Amino acid sequence: MTRAAVLAGVGGYVPPRVVTNEELSRRLDTSDAWIRTRTGIAARHVVDPGTSTGDLAVEAGGRALKNAGADGADLVIVATTTPDRPCPATAPTVAARLGLTDVPAYDVAAVCSGFVYALQAGAAAVTSGFAERALVVGAESFSTILDPTDRTTSVIFGDGAGAVLLRAGERTEPGAVLDVHLGSDGSMADLITVRGGGAEERSRGGTPRPEDRYFRMDGKSVFFAAVRRMAESSRTVLARTGWEVADVDRLVGHQANTRIIQAVAEQLGLPPERAVLNIERVGNTSAASIPLALADGLADGTLVAGDRVLLTAFGGGATWGSATLVWPDLPIG
Ligand code: UT7
Repeated sequence: MTRAAVLAGVGGYVPPRVVTNEELSRRLDTSDAWIRTRTGIAARHVVDPGTSTGDLAVEAGGRALKNAGADGADLVIVATTTPDRPCPATAPTVAARLGLTDVPAYDVAAVCSGFVYALQAGAAAVTSGFAERALVVGAESFSTILDPTDRTTSVIFGDGAGAVLLRAGERTEPGAVLDVHLGSDGSMADLITVRGGGAEERSRGGTPRPEDRYFRMDGKSVFFAAVRRMAESSRTVLARTGWEVADVDRLVGHQANTRIIQAVAEQLGLPPERAVLNIERVGNTSAASIPLALADGLADGTLVAGDRVLLTAFGGGATWGSATLVWPDLPIG
């Protein structure tokens, strides 16, 4: 018997305010047709003033615990690009708000790959015996770092959170995290970045430039790197798991852009209808994207027990990663 981390519950949460493409078209030089055809996005959710990442993480984390029938966890990891504060990490506060004041809790910063990175950490902690139950959350209030005048990013990103609870179990059980592959290439750091707010800016001195507070992305370069790295990483994790591409029932790709997910499926030779998609309703929610897609896929019946599932993501850093699991029989929250 081989100890493994097993998916025991999933939870998702999006803030109530919906911003449609039409609404964006009224303040930016863009259109519903452009956004839909170039990205597959029709709407995204955005936090109201006063709500931030921790609030979304608590909602999603609480739902994952409830759906798993669990009264707690002994490890909490929050993947986010938009922490509530530069210091301290968001995870300890999220844990405390979930009633967990004596557990290890830390943030993972890998932008849109953040959830896969955090999943690896949570799964390794459970598999090694360090933890019995790990709550792994991806949460973003991305709208707080977008330049409202930048049409190339404002139309893509949205806010939300998703979470999974991993419990100790056996590798042969459905839900066991089978394999994870991660990678990074820091020479691509400038492709996706918030330049200001960190030590670089502060150590330079002088007056911070307001525009450096905002998120910037070289969309075209990211598009090609994302397709290449997600496809490569997927092949690597499939080989480690011993699955052929044809064995994959569901591809849960980071919801960056429908065209990116379709291109990854095409490069892998996977029928595009095997992709789980919720981007139309929520946009790109960065670290929250994969767990939110899992929660939505479970709720709408796209993910069913026994499905062989491939997760894959690419994000700032650059970072990327993929994971495999067989979907377990989970209650719909
Ligand atoms: O989540 C982390 C990873 N992020 C991603 O994976 C995002 C990756 N990149 C993308 O999804 C796409 O590159 C974008 C959606 C950002 C852009 O799509 P694209 O097909 O690569 O468009 P483009 O940047 O080549 O721009 C095509 C045209 C340009 O006009 P010209 O130069 O052809 O006249 C842009 O100025 O579309 C213009 N454009 C827009 N037009 C209307 C760019 N953004 C917009 C917009 N509305 N929002």
